[in-house]
Amino acid sequence: MYTFSLPPCIKGYDTFAAFAATEQLEKNDLIITNEFIFDPFVKPCNVPCKALFQERYGAGEPNDQMIDAIRADIPADTKRIIAIGGGTVIDIAKVLTFTGDWTTEEIFMGRVIPQKARRLTVIPTTCGTGSEVTNVTICELKNLSTKKGLALDTMYADEAVLIPEMVRTLPYRFFATSSIDALIHAVESYLSPKAIAHSEAFSEKAIEKIIAGYRYIARNGGESWKDKAEDFLTASNFAGIAFGYAGCAAVHALSYPLGGKYHIPHGEANQLMFAEVMRAYRVKHPAGKLTQLETLFGRELGVKPEEALDRLYELMDTILPRKPLREYGMTPEEFPQFADSVIEGQQRLLRNNYTVLTREDMIAIYNACC
Ligand SMILES: NC(=O)c1ccc[n+]([C@@H]2O[C@H](COP(=O)([O-])OP(=O)(O)OC[C@H]3O[C@@H](n4cnc5c(N)ncnc54)[C@H](O)[C@@H]3O)[C@@H](O)[C@H]2O)c1
Ligand SMILES: [Fe+2]
Repeated sequence: MYTFSLPPCIKGYDTFAAFAATEQLEKNDLIITNEFIFDPFVKPCNVPCKALFQERYGAGEPNDQMIDAIRADIPADTKRIIAIGGGTVIDIAKVLTFTGDWTTEEIFMGRVIPQKARRLTVIPTTCGTGSEVTNVTICELKNLSTKKGLALDTMYADEAVLIPEMVRTLPYRFFATSSIDALIHAVESYLSPKAIAHSEAFSEKAIEKIIAGYRYIARNGGESWKDKAEDFLTASNFAGIAFGYAGCAAVHALSYPLGGKYHIPHGEANQLMFAEVMRAYRVKHPAGKLTQLETLFGRELGVKPEEALDRLYELMDTILPRKPLREYGMTPEEFPQFADSVIEGQQRLLRNNYTVLTREDMIAIYNACC
């Protein structure tokens, strides 16, 4: 038995101006974005609504204090939030659709079940998270020094609007980290025991588009990614649909202490874990869905299936070179504690593993990345 639904309505526009001219933006809508996105795209459209700029509330990816501070500044009559940004802005906006008496930490720790009181329109400006179509939001909890994901159906956006021109202003580094995140969403959801034919189709299409784009960049140089911006945006949306159904797994779970404690950007932290998690899967469960994945990557990369994953890691390294964990300041003494925090806090993800990874496996994976 399965139910595959896609709650947000997905729309596409060539430009933000076309979106603003067609959709009714109202006085009691609130735009949450960054000033450097607002100025070139939104300001010229003279929209009637107010805007808040996320970067004025703190740097980096979302944390509970940042969300609580933005919340205090939201006009009381706000009926709809329009989030225009990367996963950071989108995930913050999801929490801010709730009204009532709560702190962000209470929501993430499950002590309060909040009620949605505002509509949410999302325009992604990175090509990674797929957050515009998932019911997931991810936040660092300052008191716990880790990131935690929360999945609530009330956090689905009402509309996801894909506008390729919004992505083209991304600096290369964030194109790289976000597109790697999308590729890993597609792989983890493909291998998830919850995958069904529908989610697999979205995973496969996302993989095809991202690998084709990466091969194009390998031939034409880093900035050429902009020629493929629309494909990367579509691929990240497809990967979001796939993992929104089938879930992410150990790569994401093991990366959370890296993001929470060392503030490594989400996609980069995932890439650091990716190859070693896949190697552990291969050792523990070589036959099965993994062989289908190797065939898929072999086809897209033009190599034999048994070489495909190693060639994939090389290609990903040309997009964003990996560094060992020790270069970020991590030491092997921390890894048992990382593994414990993953086992304690990330069961939502570990349930979707291709195969079980023990505490010892996790510590070995961190050591192999160090
Ligand atoms: N909710 C989900 O389903 C989900 C899934 C994966 C990741 N995430 C979360 O999303 C966050 C990461 O999101 P991200 O990878 O999109 O990065 P991000 O939102 O943190 O953005 C990265 C950087 O790029 C800048 N930026 C964004 N769009 C830009 C543009 N068009 N032009 C110029 N600069 C731009 C941002 O200001 C930021 O400095 C993490 O917190 C991660 O945990 C959420
Ligand atoms: Fe992710």
